[in-house]
This record gives sequence, structure tokens and C-alpha cells, in this order.
Amino acid sequence: MVNGNSHGDGSEPVDESRRTFMRATGAATAASAVGLGANGAAADGGRREIDRILDELTLEQKVGQMTQVAIDDLGEGFGPETAFDDHDNADTLGDLFTELHVGSILNGGASGPTFDGEEYVAGLNALQKFNVEHNGTGIPFVWGGDSLHGNTLLDGCTSFPQRLNMGVTRDVDLVEAAAIHTGNEIAAMGGHWIFGPTVDLLRDMRWGRYFEGHSEDSMLLGELAKARARGFERNGRVAATVKHFAGYGTPNTGKDRAHARTSMRDLRTRQLPAYRRALEEAKTVMVNSGAVNGKPAHVSHWLLTQVLRERFGFDGVVLTDWDDFERLISNHEYLPDTESGWRQAIKQGIEAGIDMHMCGGETPPTAFIETTIDLVESGELSEARIDESVRRILELKRELGLFETPSVDEGEIGDLVGGARDVSERLAKESLVLLQNEDDALPLSGGEEVLLTGPGVEDGTPNRFLMQHGGWTLGWQGIEDGDLTADGPRPRQNTIAGELEARLGDRLTHVPTEFRAAPYESIFENFDNGFFDVTDEQEAAIADAAGTAETVVVVLGEGPHNEGFGDRDKMRFPEAQRDLVELVDAETGDDATLVGVVLAGSPRGTQETFEHLDAVLFAGQPGSDAGVAVTETLFGDYNPSGKLPFTWEANVGHVPQFYDEYPPRQSVGAEDGTVQYEFGHGLSYTDWEYSGLDLSRETIGKPSAKTSVTATVTVENTGDVAGEHIVEVYNTESYGSVLQPHRRLLGFERVQVDAGDAETVAIDLDLSTLEVVPGDVPGHRRKLVEPGEYEIAVGDETATLTVRNAGTITDPEPMPGRYDIDANGDEDLDDVMELYRRIKRRER
Ligand code: BGC
Repeated sequence: MVNGNSHGDGSEPVDESRRTFMRATGAATAASAVGLGANGAAADGGRREIDRILDELTLEQKVGQMTQVAIDDLGEGFGPETAFDDHDNADTLGDLFTELHVGSILNGGASGPTFDGEEYVAGLNALQKFNVEHNGTGIPFVWGGDSLHGNTLLDGCTSFPQRLNMGVTRDVDLVEAAAIHTGNEIAAMGGHWIFGPTVDLLRDMRWGRYFEGHSEDSMLLGELAKARARGFERNGRVAATVKHFAGYGTPNTGKDRAHARTSMRDLRTRQLPAYRRALEEAKTVMVNSGAVNGKPAHVSHWLLTQVLRERFGFDGVVLTDWDDFERLISNHEYLPDTESGWRQAIKQGIEAGIDMHMCGGETPPTAFIETTIDLVESGELSEARIDESVRRILELKRELGLFETPSVDEGEIGDLVGGARDVSERLAKESLVLLQNEDDALPLSGGEEVLLTGPGVEDGTPNRFLMQHGGWTLGWQGIEDGDLTADGPRPRQNTIAGELEARLGDRLTHVPTEFRAAPYESIFENFDNGFFDVTDEQEAAIADAAGTAETVVVVLGEGPHNEGFGDRDKMRFPEAQRDLVELVDAETGDDATLVGVVLAGSPRGTQETFEHLDAVLFAGQPGSDAGVAVTETLFGDYNPSGKLPFTWEANVGHVPQFYDEYPPRQSVGAEDGTVQYEFGHGLSYTDWEYSGLDLSRETIGKPSAKTSVTATVTVENTGDVAGEHIVEVYNTESYGSVLQPHRRLLGFERVQVDAGDAETVAIDLDLSTLEVVPGDVPGHRRKLVEPGEYEIAVGDETATLTVRNAGTITDPEPMPGRYDIDANGDEDLDDVMELYRRIKRRER
């Protein structure tokens, strides 16, 4: 029998014999809790045992399983006795399990109780042992955290390039390799759950989470996210999370957690397909904190049940985002700030399809637990619905092997932290985009006198490295309170200054300028993602060195940022950076080469600054190996190969411009001055030519039967140096019953070719990217590839693909809910009957 309610509220007492057994057996306890044998095997895969344990749980214990509690910033390590006075009814971490029966804990960002890997795994193991032995159910907790570009929770970790950089690489295998390493590190640390990949389509550089989005192209985003989910989950001990479902990436005017700027057609053809691709490989989903078409996603039955579960067949765990029941009140003003508003938030959220509530800083777990219990006891929420969620949560724990082995070997983490250096370095190099290179200003010869300047110090403390990592790295969004030493784990890293100095020695002069990362305040003061300045002394030193420098490398860009206060209203560089570039331009001799290196999580920078520079390298936030990647690229040891995964508008006033929008791109008669660099732009130190584009078949009878064709094209490296090149195949012209996007990416491949050589590449084209929603404005019809002629293009090479008949590839049904005639949330026999009754009534 399983129970163990310690509330003293009259429910059944703990079974002493079981408790003694649990204490004595440790790990075996959890397995026995679900009736698994010593080796964890069960004839039906453990499902029946899960039903049995569910039957034996009290309502308190069930709701506890649905509760996830943040254990951030504990300060003194963590064990059952660690003080936990953030929330009521739990004085220590141990109380969370014995008093509240919580089923899950989290560390948001890099703000865990310790940044030391060995301490972490020992702490988590001890906590798990205590939990399993004392919670009265023997059910292990599942630990989750954000390890969004490496396991950046720990000191000395490898911080892989950020998601935007991953999009630049188009290197699905390498991105997956980084995810595999991250998953292994999380498992070795004792963790079980990564709150990634982020699968939010990019549309608006003003959004403070732009750096998290991989791409504005749905297929590229979906494929990278799928690979990352697969990588995280590879070891079988870690769950991935598709987030933030759905539409989080297009908040109105770029304001975080605002309602999405989308339409039913956009949602169904661009946004949902990316999530759906990633769902194939992920066990869990996190919900969009914003709203879609006037409905907060957390209470949308349509999104969380009709689309996610019924249409997409997802059967895993759905988690709220941080405090998001409370946000229905405070952020969305969807419900009043009253007791009944709070009750409605939970009731509507759970009924919409949520399984677990992430209690962040605002909501004490007791507020969620007590209200949910009361909703069930008062008959407002059915216990069957609770059971459904708890079954999914237990199933997740079973699939992760938690019942068999709730704790992990403490000796593995040491070897993993800071590893996968090859993957990280290669990914960092591939993730740089050469935006402009006038008169072959780059690569540098290596023999020149170089001045390196740009934002880099705060009160004498070197802090440019913050710019190379971005959010979700040090502390939460990059740094807290400007205190470099106290906050956040430091990743393993090399820096641009360090690598340039190693290469150039005395020929390098480094004059860093002022930069204070202040993400909390900057939104209120300047929207610049940091504070930037050039002091009089720095200005004099720059002017002095510029006179003799043959090359000036100016680092430009943004400080680390995230979420709401990462939001901005500018695309141009901050004033101090613009002035710095103009100063350098004015002070250098005619023959000096001016190179800008942009460290930013968005398209930051406009022509007014770029026109002063000979070459511009967009480095994004390349992470631990930024120094090696940028330096080797500047000197030509690495030939840049990255391509922009987004459209770089000319000015913030043109936002949003995306490459696959509907024509026209600008008002009739206007000059095409809206875009600075197109999606897919990226220069190389060599030249590339395409020839012989061919399709494996030129005619498709029915796309539902033949969902892809293969394009072959020859790529010739006509320049003097070897290089890598991303070949992209687009649909550039087509006509149908609704507007067709300006262009659509159908496939891509990375290829390595020596100087003077040619390679023929075969690229599978995913025809589902050609699907549209036919019909008039509502956009509720089933998705189709319509018949017609589709121009397929690789550079200037074109071919024609003829589709003879309409066919559906991804979504053979109309919009979910369209046939819910009686509006009860289900499309079932009752709807047919209701339709019949209505027809009858009309006939009478
Ligand atoms: C973010 C999520 C994240 C969660 C936990 C929230 O603020 O929106 O993406 O997973 O915090 O750290």
C-alpha cells in the first residue's frame, strides 16, 4: 500500500513496514513503488503498475506530482535540511517532499544551489534519496532546468553557440552532437529534463528572446529543434521540451509574453509545423506565456488539447511556463486579481490540457496545491482529469528510468564538464557570417599592426566575454547586478582579445571601452541591452593607436539579455558605439583596414555604421570558443561559411520583414530599401558557382503519395582557397488559390570543396513546405500542396516542378474544432447528431 500523508489531516497513516523497507533499500525503493522487479523490468513495460500506484495515491499526493518548484539561489548548497523559506509551508527543501509531495523541482537558468558539478550531483542524489525514502510514495522527483546552449549551469562548462548561431550553421548533425553532449552532462549531474529546444519562429528583432529562436524559417527551425530534442534525449535518461507552444516567437511589437501577431493561416503553415517537427523527438512541452488570437495559450483547449494532443498525437507531459497561472491575472489581465480569479486560472488551465505547474518566484506551491485540491473536492474539476495528468507524469518518470535508478553515479560529471570542445569550436566557426568584405579586406595577413577596441571593460574589469555568451549563461540572462565575481558560473572560454594577443603579440594594441551589462535596468533607460561609453582617456588612446594601426578591429553589439527586459526598440548600434566607429574612421590613415565584429543576439547594426567599415563579421553569440572562431576567421585559417537565418532589415521601422512573407515587400513604386541583408546572405573568401540543377522527377502526381523529390546540383569552388558552402534550394515562383510566399526554403546541405574543385550534392526537398491553406480569410480548410508549376532555384539555376493534383502532406483535416458543432470541445458523434438536428430543423 502506498500513502504517507504527513499533513496530519486524518488521511491514512504511513505504512511503517514499507517505510522501513524504503529506508533500507534506497534505490530499490522507487522501483518497488511501481511494482517493478529488481532490474526494473515489467511485463507490460510498467504501465499497469503505474495505474496501480495511481490508484493508491491520495489526492494531495497526486496534485503534488503536478507541482514543480524552483529551488534557485539557495546559496548554501542543497540537501533536505537546506533552508527553503521562499514559500509558505516548507521550511526546508525536505519539506517540499514530506509536506507537499512535490513531484518535480527546477533550476531556472544558471542560478542553482551550486555551480560545482561534483557538489551538484552529490546534492541532488542526497535530496533524491531523502525524497524517495520520506515522501511516503517512494516516487522519485524529476529535476528540470534550462541548458539551452550547453549545460551552462556549471563552472567550467562548454557554452555552445546560441540558438541564432546554430541557425547560421545549417549543420543539423553538429547541432545534434552539441545536444548529445548537453544531455549527457545533465544526466551525469543527476538531472532529468532540459527545457529546450526553443521552437519559436523568429519575426521581430525587438523581442528580447530573439537569440533563442534559430531562424525565421519554419522548416530550418523545425529541423534544428528536432535534432536538438533527439540529441538531448539520446541517452534515455533525459527528456526534452518543445517550447513555448505555440506562437511565443511573434509577440506583438516584440514585447515578451504579449499576444502573438499571427493569423490562422500563418499559425498553420509557419508556426505550428516547426513545433510539430520537434515534437517527434520530445517527451514534454512547455506552454507559450503569451496569447494567440485573443486567448492566453495556457487556457487554450484548442491549442493544448485539440491541436497538440488530438491532431498532433502528443501524449507526453505539458508544463506551464514560470508562474504562468498567476500571469493570467497579472500579465494578461484575463482574470481578476481575486481568489476566484486564481481558482479560474488553475481550473481553466488544467481543463485546457496542462499537466504540471511550474511554481516560480510568485506562486507558493501551496497556493497551487491547495486550490487544485479544493477545486476537485468541490466538484469543479474532475479527479479523472487530474489522474490523466498524473499518469503522464509517472509515465515520464518510468520512461526516464527513474523508478529503477533514481540517483546516479557521482563519478561521471567531472569528465564531461567543459568537454565536446571540438564540436563547440567547429560550431562556433560555422556560426559566423561575413556580411561585407570590400576589396577583400579580409582575411588579414597576420603581419599587420592591429588595434582592437570596442566595448570590453567595466571599471577596469574585463567583461567583454559576457557578450560572447548571451543569455541563459551566467546567472539567468547573462549577469546579475553587474557583479562579475559573485554571480553565475564561468564557462570554459577563449576570448577575441586573448586569441588576437596570442597571435600578434606586441603588434596588438587593445583599448577596450566601457561596457556595463545591466539587463534589468536597460529597458527602462536606453533599450540598448547594456550601457556603453568611451572615456576621454580611452578616446585619446584609440586616437593614438589608430594613427599607426594597419588594421582596426572594432567589437560592436549587445550585452547579454533575455526575456522582457531584453526587449528593445532599436536596431542601430548604441550611440557610443556609433561614435567609436566614426572616431576610428577619422583617425586612421587611408590604407588602414576597418573591421567590425558584431557580438549580438539579433540583427543589431545599420548602414550608418557599416558604411565606415571595410569588413563586417556577424559573430552572434558564439559561446566558449568565440576567441578561436573569430580569430581564425579574421586571419583566414577558417573560411567563413555561415548564412543568415533571418532577414536583417535596414531600419527598425521596417521590422518585421521576413523572407517568406507574402508579396509585396514594399509599397509599389518605392525603392527596395527595406532590407539590409537578406535571409541566406553570407560571404566567403572564395567564389562559388552552381550548374546542372536537376530534379529526381519533374512531375508529381499527388504530393500526399510522394512527399519529397531530390535536387542535384554541382557546386564549384572557383576561387583560390578551400571552403565550406551551404547550398540552399528555394521555391521562387508559384501560383495558387491564395497568396504564395515571396520565397520558400525547401532543402539545404553543407558541402566542403577544395579550390578549383566541384562537388555534386543531392538535396532532399521537403514538399510539405509548399503546403498552403486554401480558401478565404478564415483559413480553416485542410492544408494542401496545390496543383501547378513550382519554380525551384539554387542561385540563378532554375528548374520546374509540376504538381498535377492537389494533395495533403501534414494535415489532411480542416482546422481542429471546425466540426465541433455543439462547441463542447470535441469532434464526435454528438456533433454529427447536432448537425443532423439542425438540418432537420431547417427542413421543417
Ligand atoms: C522562461 C522559460 C524557462 C523557465 C524556467 C521562464 O521564464 O520563459 O523558457 O524554461 O523560465 O527557467
